[in-house]
This record gives sequence, structure tokens and C-alpha cells, in this order.
Amino acid sequence: MEGKVALVTGGGNGIGAGICRVLAERGAKVAVSDISLERAQSISDEIASAGGTAIPLSIDVTDVASLNAGVSRVLEEFGQLDICVPNAGVVGTRGFETRSDFVDGDWDATNSVNVRGLVNTAEAVLPHMRERKYGKIINIASQGGRAPRGPDVVLGRQTIPYLVSKAAAIQWTHLLAQDVGKHSINVNCVCPGTVWSDIWESIGVNRSNFEPNLGADARAVFDAATMMRHPLQLEQTPEDIGHSVAFLASDEASEITGQALNVNAGSVLS
Ligand SMILES: NC(=O)c1ccc[n+]([C@@H]2O[C@H](COP(=O)([O-])OP(=O)(O)OC[C@H]3O[C@@H](n4cnc5c(N)ncnc54)[C@H](O)[C@@H]3O)[C@@H](O)[C@H]2O)c1
Repeated sequence: MEGKVALVTGGGNGIGAGICRVLAERGAKVAVSDISLERAQSISDEIASAGGTAIPLSIDVTDVASLNAGVSRVLEEFGQLDICVPNAGVVGTRGFETRSDFVDGDWDATNSVNVRGLVNTAEAVLPHMRERKYGKIINIASQGGRAPRGPDVVLGRQTIPYLVSKAAAIQWTHLLAQDVGKHSINVNCVCPGTVWSDIWESIGVNRSNFEPNLGADARAVFDAATMMRHPLQLEQTPEDIGHSVAFLASDEASEITGQALNVNAGSVLS
């Protein structure tokens, strides 16, 4: 990653922060962006203290102007942009933890951040990547976008909009890869399984409210889901996802495009 420049959205927490740390450890200069500048600043400071190079950016992926301003700032600071990781995501709208069913706001929030947010982010970086005839875009989708699991008490009906948005993220990855391949731009996505983060805490709080037999609290539900579903019986860390992103961003993966890579300890096998 030496000499490469990366932009990560939602990089101030959870999986996005793990991706930023791994890319920086491997020598990339990293623009840590988040809707929360405070979070982006904190991860950027952590990378700098560990000897890496990072800048914090305030980017809301639903706001095209903030994306364009962020990309301009990366180009001013580092002169190029090689790797883009559209990672920002939400599980639903306010009150998600206390609902057993979805509401209109869940469809709107998941569509605008998890689907349109990926499109907006790609559109902001593509002019530069097309001009240089080089680029690696790695979307963060989910194993939940691969296959329905039937009446799944572990996740519940209120996560349906989220799961639909993640299927759309995978299809967007396929379509964009076909569209920009002629410019030597690779587009892939990573499908994480179960990573303890704010999103999983919301799901766990919801499930412990409605399916208390799964676990007494959010973390107990998460542990039960991990043991129940994953052949390897392992949760994934944010850095596990970062390692797979670093591989897809590397020139060792230059023949790979349009793919969705499960990093999920085997819980969904296709
Ligand atoms: N945690 C898991 O088990 C899991 C599994 C599969 C996929 N994912 C996906 O991984 C990605 C990261 O999720 P996470 O689990 O780390 O969640 P998280 O809530 O810990 O982190 C998400 C980050 O995105 C930021 N964000 C939210 N809305 C934004 C917006 N409009 N613009 C910019 N930033 C915004 C938040 O401030 C936060 O820092 C998401 O796309 C999520 O769907 C997570």
C-alpha cells in the first residue's frame, strides 16, 4: 500500500475504523471520513500516533456536496486517490431497537445511506479514477444481502429493509464493475458476517427486547448468533474486514472485479 491514497466513508467507528487502521499500517495515506467529524478526528489521530498518515474529513454520504468537497480535499492534500471504500451504513431509523416491524423511515434511511450513499461516493471519485485509468473501489455490503434465511428470529422482521439494501449493494457492485472495467478500475465488495459494532448492538438490543430466550442483553444475543451460525464459531473483527479490503485494493487482486467476498466464518456459503 506504500504510495497509495485511500478514502474510507464511515471510517470513524466499527468496521470502517478497522479498514482505516489496516490500510494505514500497510503504508497507505488514509482520508478517514465520517458524518461525525469528531469520530473521524479520533481515528485519524490514532493512526498518526501509530506513525501512519491520515486526515479527518466530515462527509455525509447522502450529501453530494459534502462528498465532492471531501474528494477535492483529498486531492489537494495527497495529489491522487487510488482506493475508495464506501463503508458507511445504517441498520434503520430512530427507534429501531424498540420495534418488531419495519416502518417507512427504515426503508428511506437504508436506501439513502446503504444504497444511494454507495452510488454517490463512487460518482464523486470516478472522474479522477477514470482520468488516471486506475482505481480500486471496495463496497461494504453484508452476508445478509446474499441469501434470505427464512423466518429468522436472530435478526427479526424489522431488519428486512437493511437486508434488501445490502442485496442492492451487491448488485450495484456487479453493475459498476461492468461499467468502469474499461477504465482499469476494479470494483468489488466485502460481505462481513458478524462484527460487534454499534449496528450489531442495535440489533442485539432489539432482539433481547423481543426474543429474550436468545440472550439477556445485546452482547449475549451477538454471542449466541455467532455460535449458532458460523461453522468456525468466530466473530469477525473490524481488522478482519480491513485485511480483505487491503487484498482487494492491492495489485495482487488486479484480475478480480465484480465479486462479493464473504468474510463471515462460513455462515453463508455462497
Ligand atoms: N457489524 C456487522 O456485523 C456488519 C455485518 C455486515 C455488514 N456491515 C456493514 O459494515 C458497515 C459498517 O458498519 P459497522 O457495523 O461498523 O457500524 P457502525 O455503526 O459502528 O459504523 C458506521 C459508521 O458510519 C457512520 N455513518 C452513518 N451514517 C453516515 C452517513 N450518512 N455518512 C457518513 N457516515 C455515516 C457512523 O457515524 C459510523 O461511524 C455498514 O455498511 C454495515 O452495514 C456490518
